[in-house]
Amino acid sequence: MKFFIDTANLDQIKEAQAMGILDGVTTNPSLMAKEGITGEASILKHYVDICNLVDGDVSAEVISTDFEGMVREGEALAALHPQIVVKLPMIGDGVKACKYFSDKGIKTNVTLVFSAGQALLAAKAGATYMSPFIGRLDDISTDGLGLIAEIRLIYDNYGFDTQILAASVRHTMHIMDCAKIGADVMTGPLSAIKGLLKHPLTDIGLAKFLADYQKGN
Ligand code: E4P
Repeated sequence: MKFFIDTANLDQIKEAQAMGILDGVTTNPSLMAKEGITGEASILKHYVDICNLVDGDVSAEVISTDFEGMVREGEALAALHPQIVVKLPMIGDGVKACKYFSDKGIKTNVTLVFSAGQALLAAKAGATYMSPFIGRLDDISTDGLGLIAEIRLIYDNYGFDTQILAASVRHTMHIMDCAKIGADVMTGPLSAIKGLLKHPLTDIGLAKFLADYQKGN
C-alpha cells in the first residue's frame, strides 16, 4: 500500500519524507490556498519545490473544466517535473482529457470520485490513479469505505491497472480499513499517518526496558 500525504505544506511533507514511509503527495487548489500559495507562477514553483522534497508522484490539479484547457494546463504541469501527475476532475471533459494523457504516457489522477460508475469510467480512460473521497462521503452519511470495497471488486473483476487512491482520509482507522479492503494508495493528513505509530503498550514497554537497563548500569 502506498502512502501519500495530502497537503501543500512543505514542513509536513519534509516530516513525512523523513519518516521514510512516504510514496508521494497529493494537492488540490484548496490545499494550495490554505498555504497562501496563489497566482500561477507561485503555484507552479510550489509544485517543483514539492517534487524536489519527495521521491514519488506529486498530483497537480488543473483548474480548467473544458477539454482544451485541461490539455493545455496538464501539458504545462507535466513538463514541470517528471514526478508530476496531472489531476483531472471526474467530469465528461476530465475523462476525455484522462484518455488523451494516458495515450501519451502521462500519468493522471482522476479526482472527485463519489461512485463506482465514475471509478469504472476513470479506469476505462486509462487513469493511473482514481481518487474516491471517503471522508466527504462519510460526512453525508454515505459509506465511503463501502465505495472503496465496491471499486476494488469491479477493478479486480476486469484486471484494471488503475490504482485506487483512497482520498479524503480523515483519521488512522480510515487508513487501516483501506488497507484491509485493498486500496492501492491512501492519501491523508500527517496526523492520520502518525496516528499509526501510537500504542500505549509500546510506550509502557519501552519505558520499562529503559528503566531496567538503567538498573543494570
Ligand atoms: C485528494 O486528492 C484530495 O486532495 C483530498 O483527499 C480531499 O480531502 P478533504 O475531503 O479532506 O478535503
